[in-house]
Amino acid sequence: MNRVALRARWLAMHGVPRAYFAVQARRGDPLAQMLRSGAIDRYSLMEDIRARGRLVRSPHVWGSVDHAVCREVLRDKRFGVTAPSEMELPPPLKKLIAKTDPGVPNPVEPPAMVIVNPPDHTRYRHLVAQSFTPRAIDGLEARVTEVTMELIERISTTPNPDLIADFATQLPVAIIAEILGLPADSYPRMLQWGHSGAPLLDVGIDWKTYRDAVNGMRDVDDYLIEHFRKLRAGQPGDNPFSRMVADGSMTDRELTANAALIVGAGFETTVNLIGNGIVLLLQHPEQLRQLHDNPDLWPNAIEEILRLASPVQMTARTPACDVEIAGTHIGAGNMVGLFLGGANRDPNVFTDPTKFDITRINAREHLAFASGIHACLGAALARIEGATALRALFETFPNLRLTAPPERRGLINLHGYTRLPAQLGGRRTTSAVLPV
Ligand code: HEM
Repeated sequence: MNRVALRARWLAMHGVPRAYFAVQARRGDPLAQMLRSGAIDRYSLMEDIRARGRLVRSPHVWGSVDHAVCREVLRDKRFGVTAPSEMELPPPLKKLIAKTDPGVPNPVEPPAMVIVNPPDHTRYRHLVAQSFTPRAIDGLEARVTEVTMELIERISTTPNPDLIADFATQLPVAIIAEILGLPADSYPRMLQWGHSGAPLLDVGIDWKTYRDAVNGMRDVDDYLIEHFRKLRAGQPGDNPFSRMVADGSMTDRELTANAALIVGAGFETTVNLIGNGIVLLLQHPEQLRQLHDNPDLWPNAIEEILRLASPVQMTARTPACDVEIAGTHIGAGNMVGLFLGGANRDPNVFTDPTKFDITRINAREHLAFASGIHACLGAALARIEGATALRALFETFPNLRLTAPPERRGLINLHGYTRLPAQLGGRRTTSAVLPV
C-alpha cells in the first residue's frame, strides 16, 4: 500500500478521532480526556467518570468504570466487538477505512480473534485454545522457571540492570516463542514488534507512531509467513500451535493475525504485570515482608497487582440491538467503553479500593483479564509468569532497590513502566523458585 493511502487510513482511524477528542476534552468530557490522556493521571479521570454515574454518555460513546456494568456488558451476548470498518463513523470515513486495508496483521483488526464476533470467533478460539489447555500450560511451567533462573543469573552480573528491558520483557518473549515454535534468534524481532505494535491499542495515535506500527506489522507478516511455510514444509515443532499451522486449519492471514495477537497480547501485558508488581512491592515493604514470611501468599499478591495496576485498562463493546443496562437505554450500534482499571477500583466491590493489600480476600474478582467469550486465553500462563518472576527476583535480591523514579510508558490502554533501573544489592545464595 502506498503512503498516501496509509495516511488516509490513519486520518480516518486516528487523525479525525484525535482532533475530535481534543475538542471534547477541552469541553471537560472525562471520556474524551481518558482517551487522549496517557501520561496524566488516568485514575483521577476514572473517579470523575464514576462520580457522574454507572454509565456515562459522551456525544458519541458511552463509558463505564462500574464493575457490575463492565462485567454484565462483557458477558452479554447482545454485545459484540466492533472492527474499525464497522464503527459508527460518518460514511465517507467508513468507506475510506474499508478501502485502505494494508493487509498486515493488526491486533485490533480482524481476523485477530479479539476483534471478531461469533461464529468466526468461536472457530478461532477453539483452534488457538489448544495451545492454552491446562496440559499445555503445565508443560510451559517448567520452561517459565528455567527461563526465570537464567534471567536471574544474567541480571546478577549486569551492572545496574533495567528490570524492564533486562528482566520483565525477556520472560514473556521466551515463552511466546515456545508457544509459537519460534527460534531464540527471533526474540529481538518480537520485542521490536511488541514495541511498535502496542500503540495500535490506543485511539487517536499520531501519524508517525501509526506508520511505524504498520511497518513493524509488515515485518511480522513477512517473518511469520516464512515461519509457517517452513512448518508446512515438514518441520512442524512439537507444540499445538505448530501442529495447527501444519494441518491447515487456518488461512495464512488468519494465522499471522492470531499469532501476532498472541505476541502482542501475551508480551506487552505480562511485561506490565511484572513491572507494575516490582514497583508496588517496593513501595510497600510491609507487604513484601509478608510474602517473605508466607510465600503461599504469592498467587493472591498477583491478583492484587492485576487489580490495582491493571496492565490492560480498557476495552469496548457495541450492542447489536437496543438494550437496557443498569436502567439506561443504549441504542443499537452505540459503543460502550469499558474501563477495566476503574472497574477494578469500584468501592462497591473492593473495600478501600486504592489500598494495596496482598491478603485482600476478593482480589481475584478483578476484570483485568476481561470476562465473557473474549476473556484472556493466556490468563493462567500470565499468572504463573508473574508469580515465578516476581518471587524469584525478590527472594534472590532481598535488598533490591530502584536507582531512579519509575517512568510510565505513556500509552493509553497498556499500563506499565518503560524503564526500572535498579541496584540489586546482595544476593541470597539459597534462592529457590518453587511452584506457586
Ligand atoms: C497480565 C497479562 C495479561 C493481561 C492483563 C491480559 C488481558 C487481556 C484482556 C483484558 C483480554 C480481553 C480483551 C477484550 O475483550 O477486548 C485478553 C484477551 C486475550 N489474551 Fe490476554 N492478557 C494477558 C496475558 C496474555 C498472555 C500471556 C497471552 C498468550 C500468550 C494472552 C492472550 C490473549 C488472547 C489470545 C486474547 C483474545 C481472546 C479472545 O478474543 O477470545 N494474554 N487479554
